[in-house]
Amino acid sequence: LRIGVLVSGSGTNLQSIIDKSESGYIPGSVELVISSKSGVYAIERAKNHNIPAYVVAPKNYSTKEDYEDKLIEILQSHNVDLVVLAGFIKVLSPHFVQAFAGRIMNIHPSLIPAFCGEGFYGEKVHKAVLDYGVKITGVTVHFVDEGADTGPIILQRAVPVMDDDTVETLAARVLEEEHKIYPEAVKLFAEGRLKVEGRRVKIIKQE
Ligand code: GRF
Repeated sequence: LRIGVLVSGSGTNLQSIIDKSESGYIPGSVELVISSKSGVYAIERAKNHNIPAYVVAPKNYSTKEDYEDKLIEILQSHNVDLVVLAGFIKVLSPHFVQAFAGRIMNIHPSLIPAFCGEGFYGEKVHKAVLDYGVKITGVTVHFVDEGADTGPIILQRAVPVMDDDTVETLAARVLEEEHKIYPEAVKLFAEGRLKVEGRRVKIIKQE
């Protein structure tokens, strides 16, 4: 499976997918990385593994469609089978989603549909979790459809919220689970074991 990863920041999810591809856990390879901004550590991570890294900044394009056309052009030039959003900050429009229908995954640091959608990203998610006072949060990997964090859910894992948690300690605990669940979801996709039936994603058991 040929994987393209879109990033915007530190790239710890990118790193876990690179590592699990190189170890053979994921039957696939990260063919390229595209960052929405320069100078982020995710780009260094790609270079450390001789993976082509591109910076495509939205501000350099007059319309969102032109920006997304550039992303599509680069991804298609590498014959990508699956697009993985990993800490990618932009919301992609139907224009991009349709170009890779059913082949885009995202990870969100909460149990969707809680604490998600426009404005809920990064530490804002964990702040909302602590402010609300929930006892259980978690991680969700889902297919990307035309909404924000609304696509069919592939995998979820629960993460307990501790009484003395801060945004930082909670974010770190959730991130640890992200690094386990994302490679698992990519592996299932690579093995052709994800069956989407409407909003439900069923995992075909390994015989
Ligand atoms: C983290 O908040 C993570 O929950 C979300 O994006 C942020 C950075 O991820 N997926 P990464 O370290 O850049 O992969």
